[in-house]
Amino acid sequence: MCVYEITGGRPLAGQLTVQGAKNSVLPILAASILAPGESVIHNCPDLSDVSATLDILRLLGCGVRREGHTVRVDASTLGESRIPDQLMGELRSSVVFLGALLSRCGGAELAYPGGCELGPRPIDLHLMALQTLGAEIEEEQGRLRCRWGPGMSGRELYLSIPSVGATENAILAACGCWGVTTIIGAAREPEIEDLQAFLQAMGAEVTGAGTSTIVVAGGGQLHPAEHTVMGDRMAAATYLCAVGAAGGCVRLRGVEPRHLTAVLSVLEEAGADVQADREGISIACAEPLCGVRPVRTAPHPGFPTDAQAPLMAALCGGTGTTMFVENMFSSRYRHVGELVRMGADIQVDGRVAVVTGRHLRGAGVRGTDLRGTAALVVAALAAKGTSQVSGIRYIRRGYQDLEGALSTLGADIKLTEE
Ligand code: EPZ
Repeated sequence: MCVYEITGGRPLAGQLTVQGAKNSVLPILAASILAPGESVIHNCPDLSDVSATLDILRLLGCGVRREGHTVRVDASTLGESRIPDQLMGELRSSVVFLGALLSRCGGAELAYPGGCELGPRPIDLHLMALQTLGAEIEEEQGRLRCRWGPGMSGRELYLSIPSVGATENAILAACGCWGVTTIIGAAREPEIEDLQAFLQAMGAEVTGAGTSTIVVAGGGQLHPAEHTVMGDRMAAATYLCAVGAAGGCVRLRGVEPRHLTAVLSVLEEAGADVQADREGISIACAEPLCGVRPVRTAPHPGFPTDAQAPLMAALCGGTGTTMFVENMFSSRYRHVGELVRMGADIQVDGRVAVVTGRHLRGAGVRGTDLRGTAALVVAALAAKGTSQVSGIRYIRRGYQDLEGALSTLGADIKLTEE
């Protein structure tokens, strides 16, 4: 099994162009089936989650060609509306195909996406949204079977939680639904704005993304489009936390600072020198990060849950004390035990974790989810000595060539056989 071997204590320096956003390209690839013809998607990151999504598109009958970071999806030959179980298991977020397949084919069948490393991942809001628009949904032996009922029509629907996935599913289903759909309580994440931009390029009448009210005038004939995916703000947040942990001076290009306001604000409060402009973000850390006011994860524009673990790792090796409150998922502290093995002082009580900074030491640690494993890499960059970090398959899901990117910035990191 491959592991990262990381020797900490080396400040990072240099420039990096951030990958395309995983959480934007996945719904955009699903949206590409809404119209026959070939859509072209640029800045598509090389990730296992993306490869799994391309496999789903192929299984549905689409033509898929990948040329570097450009993907061409020809949905003219779409002929299937069932997604096999093993691909659903691999990729929870493929539940967003429900709305896209309903729109294009009038029906969809897929396995009920299970929970994951972050705890239960219900989809009740997804199903409520589609049923409000007139979908008839049967759940049988762990599979979901959906089709438009006679009452299919645009309507007002309310999300009691600003769920990113449920918002995306509702938008995609509404595109195939005659009439106007108003989504109230929508998630405001930038990835939804990126999805809206792609859909608008396809001729869809979608407005309001980035706010909590999104309006879709559905039923029109759509056409293929060309789109460049936004930069991955969570990958950027991880690299910024890596500099916070190891010290140094790094410039990130290809990411919009306005997408990371909450993260930049906390890093500045912790003592980092952060400069943001139209082209990207620069960060310099000459001293270890200090403790900050409580970090409470929240829907955008609040502090993003996906940055909680990398920030915690950066603060573990700093000074002072910080309280984290993880409000989005029930089991998103699985990295804590492994950070403690590196000498971190973290006390967890339910959703609260209190971190007191101290010197970290290299250790053999095991990642069990995407952002948690990235956090172990961040901590290893600060730790004295060498660490072995396993869980590379999780990293491959969301970070494009993490070891190459960090090596470019001067980190001592290599992939080795355990
Ligand atoms: C998206 O997941 C992201 N994934 C996650 O990133 C991210 O952590 C999350 O949004 C929150 O920002 C992708 O975009 C592919 P939610 P999603 O629906 O859509 C509850 C990463 O590391 N909920 O916004 O699944 C849910 O349990 C990943 O890149 C319901 O109760 O998240 C959670 O507590 C991890 N019922 C909260 O809402 C539902 O029907 C937010 O979940 C749906 C969600």
